[in-house]
Amino acid sequence: MSFIYKVFHDVAFFSWDTSLAIANLVLPSRAEGKVTPEGHPGFGGKWPEFVPRKEGDSRCSCPALNAMANHGILPHDGKNISFKDMNRLIRTTYNFSPSFCYFVPNFAAKFLKRDYNKDTFNLDELDLHNLGIEHDASLCREDAHFCPDQSVIATDMIKELLASASGKDKDGNPLLTVKDLSRFSAKRRVDSSEKNPEYKLDFQHKMFGSSNCSTMLTIFGGRVKDLETILLEERLPENWESRVRKPFGLTLAHFNLTTVMWVELGINEKKYIAERKAAEEAAASNEAEAEAEADAAAESSVHKSDSPTN
Ligand code: HEM
Repeated sequence: MSFIYKVFHDVAFFSWDTSLAIANLVLPSRAEGKVTPEGHPGFGGKWPEFVPRKEGDSRCSCPALNAMANHGILPHDGKNISFKDMNRLIRTTYNFSPSFCYFVPNFAAKFLKRDYNKDTFNLDELDLHNLGIEHDASLCREDAHFCPDQSVIATDMIKELLASASGKDKDGNPLLTVKDLSRFSAKRRVDSSEKNPEYKLDFQHKMFGSSNCSTMLTIFGGRVKDLETILLEERLPENWESRVRKPFGLTLAHFNLTTVMWVELGINEKKYIAERKAAEEAAASNEAEAEAEADAAAESSVHKSDSPTN
């Protein structure tokens, strides 16, 4: 791609995305229950049957794409998916903007060195470590160094993430917040950097990390109950629809400015290390106190049994 074409393409793309973001601000949102367009899988909250992955099916590190394959929205075997189909299907399933749905599959085609217009890919091919989108210290997968098959769901890690949710909706149900994602990301980055001898996370992959996990707050509204289903089972909850009701879907501009940027800016690894140290010191001092109390109790019972009145 020539330099001039690239500049022209990027300017056109960002103008398109910005105009959709502006249109979203002035046009009414879709009614609740009408987010998934008529005639598409999921219309009226009815998702095609969920069939767990079978031996030989291709799956990847992205819970949202795996869920689409598990419901047969993408081919169930996760193979020979055209980039153009993925564009159309992530749009109708999750209500991302046409600009976003053009941008990400194009980016994937580029890092896989394929032709966006003609070629296909298998889901597992998306897991090109540190060269594509997949990276260390993510919130739903162990690092590739420990778990080369990035389709393996990190169940305990996801449960820990969801248990850290500090928000509540109006009915008192738990909600994941921007602060929760920043805190958990800081923990993952510190833990991975200490344990993984191959740990690497450059600026671009930090931004991918914050961007991927921010979909938990936008598309899934931070709702822990829905996130349990999508992240732990890679299934779309019954009667679910995207929490983004904007008529042109979630644009890159809106997503980055309202969520991704705040998650990334809130990640404070030094603060996490200081909190962890304080928690360890408090635990050690509680342990020492408990030991001292136990010793004192044992000593006093010895004195009692030595007493002449016994
Ligand atoms: C073309 C479309 C997409 C591609 C190529 C893609 C690719 C990826 C990849 C490679 C990862 C793993 C990154 C890592 O190492 O942590 C990932 C994670 C993730 N993606 Fe996607 N994805 C796409 C669409 C979506 C959509 C539409 C959603 C939401 C509705 C989504 C939600 C997520 C979530 C929640 C994670 C997990 C983040 C984490 O573990 O920290 N993705 N995606």
